[in-house]
Amino acid sequence: MRKKVIAGNWKMNMTNKEAISMLIELKEIVKNIKNVTIIVGGPFTALSDAVKIVEKSNISIAAENVYPKDAGAFTGEISPIMLKEIGVKYVILGHSERREYFMESNSFINEKIKAVLAHGMIPILCIGERLEDREAGRTNDINRNQLIEGLEGLTKEQAEKIIIAYEPIWAIGTGKTATPEIAQETHRAIRDVLKEIFGEEISEKMTIQYGGSMNAENAEKLLSQKDIDGGLIGGASLKAESFSKIIFAGE
Ligand code: 13P
Repeated sequence: MRKKVIAGNWKMNMTNKEAISMLIELKEIVKNIKNVTIIVGGPFTALSDAVKIVEKSNISIAAENVYPKDAGAFTGEISPIMLKEIGVKYVILGHSERREYFMESNSFINEKIKAVLAHGMIPILCIGERLEDREAGRTNDINRNQLIEGLEGLTKEQAEKIIIAYEPIWAIGTGKTATPEIAQETHRAIRDVLKEIFGEEISEKMTIQYGGSMNAENAEKLLSQKDIDGGLIGGASLKAESFSKIIFAGE
């Protein structure tokens, strides 16, 4: 049985003050949750205080990006060492917004995954197709390519730790969620690719989250699908009340 993993992705929202008050509230609401791994991903400026607030709680903190070098002349970037030192546990990588607005390629994302693993943190690798890809029947090819190139060179031991987040781009921030059946079918195809790369045993252990307009209303049905092991939540993760409802749906 895979434990459900519910992660928030605040994106470019939440000042440090806002993050602190949200996490104080969330921590109290979800304090008795045992069967869900709870993660909150926030902007760099909020991470240090966020880690302190959730210390000794059942919530872990994620960054939303990283640069794949330890240190050096990379103005404006943040290294895995910096994240690790303040207590960040997860790093969201390859989000479709980063692929689209910052031209991130599969090979660059692969470098980031390796850097994050090398520093003992866990990558959450986002993959997913555009609407035109789905309409043209290319969904599985797109996901397969993002997985094969994104996970290139990883050992089975490394793969086992990684979280995959399937986020159909047409469902992100649009209110259009994939139906549980469509999401399940795609998650199954994703697990088949993981099986092809890492073997059945590892693929069955790996967490595959769904992301894209997941909310308190649709979470339970999505999370009840066999191959949907959690959620990566944008809009609905900004408020403790709506985010905690999704967490309870996974419990
Ligand atoms: P929404 O939940 O706002 O659709 O965002 C999903 C997402 O992109 C999470 O990474």
